[in-house]
Amino acid sequence: MTFPITRLRRFRATPALRALVRETTLEPGDLVAPLFVCHGEKTRRPIASMPGHAQLSVDEAVREARELAELGVGGVILFGLPSKKDALGSEAYAKDGIVPWALRAMKAAVPDLILWADVCLCEYTDHGHCGVLHGERVDNDRTLPLLARAAVAYAQAGADIVAPSDMMDGRVGAIRRALDEASLADTPIVSYAAKYASAFYGPFREAADSAPQFGDRRAYQMDPANGEEALREVALDLEEGADMVMVKPALPYLDVIRSVKDQFGVPVAAYNVSGEFAMLKAAAERGWLDGERAALEALTAIRRAGADVIITYHAKEIAPLLGRSRA
Ligand code: PBG
Repeated sequence: MTFPITRLRRFRATPALRALVRETTLEPGDLVAPLFVCHGEKTRRPIASMPGHAQLSVDEAVREARELAELGVGGVILFGLPSKKDALGSEAYAKDGIVPWALRAMKAAVPDLILWADVCLCEYTDHGHCGVLHGERVDNDRTLPLLARAAVAYAQAGADIVAPSDMMDGRVGAIRRALDEASLADTPIVSYAAKYASAFYGPFREAADSAPQFGDRRAYQMDPANGEEALREVALDLEEGADMVMVKPALPYLDVIRSVKDQFGVPVAAYNVSGEFAMLKAAAERGWLDGERAALEALTAIRRAGADVIITYHAKEIAPLLGRSRA
């Protein structure tokens, strides 16, 4: 059937007709908002490269969490700024560290909000790498027990989900075993399975004060050129017990999101990272594009590619726009 019998424009004529045939949905519950928590009180330290975001003391983070819960978002993911950094990233797995403290406060104040805890050492190590060092290399196997301890500390403090982002081999299995041994068999793991060594993490490293002090992360994060390897990473993480897998960043890796969804049919998250957010904000500030429309389009595209859940810095501004009928 071709023209003039077939006219695809028929269903584009009005907002209602467009809504009727819309294939992809985007709801507040699909979005997870990252929060950066720091020590102190009544503190909001704005992050220059991420307009609208700040490092928040626990009281402020709780207030933010309450607002996000009212908007119906699918959760918050916490990143911590420790009071001091050391070679082993001790505050990452201290039971009284910043993230467990924030988790306890949020769980008490906003019990229905899903609390995700990012599990990694990079915010806590003085060298800024995601694991402990042996010379200038990150020692994979010595890092695993520390990540496992962090995951247990967060789950005990009230995290509903733990999300390892370090890219060490075998960490999902190590975390699963440690959670099970600590009677936390019901705590799900969302693994950052296909996490690329990306230039788009720039603003985050300012936000979380986690830039590596020497070298880069290419010896543990993935080469942006590789798609098949992403599927191997996902397969291994699922075998080790991951309940959901993540692709990160999102927009430059939509093909990877699609392949993971098609091949494995498991819950998939995508991380719309700091640089993706910052570039859109910068262009919108200059009036070079309509920031709201661009964010909606980007988030819809990530869902269309196959992501069930999107971690995004746009969550708070975009959630209120969803649900109202879109032209
Ligand atoms: C750290 C971590 C990073 C992000 C999430 N967890 C940064 C990195 O690997 O350097 C990036 C998030 C973003 O850019 O928004 N383990």
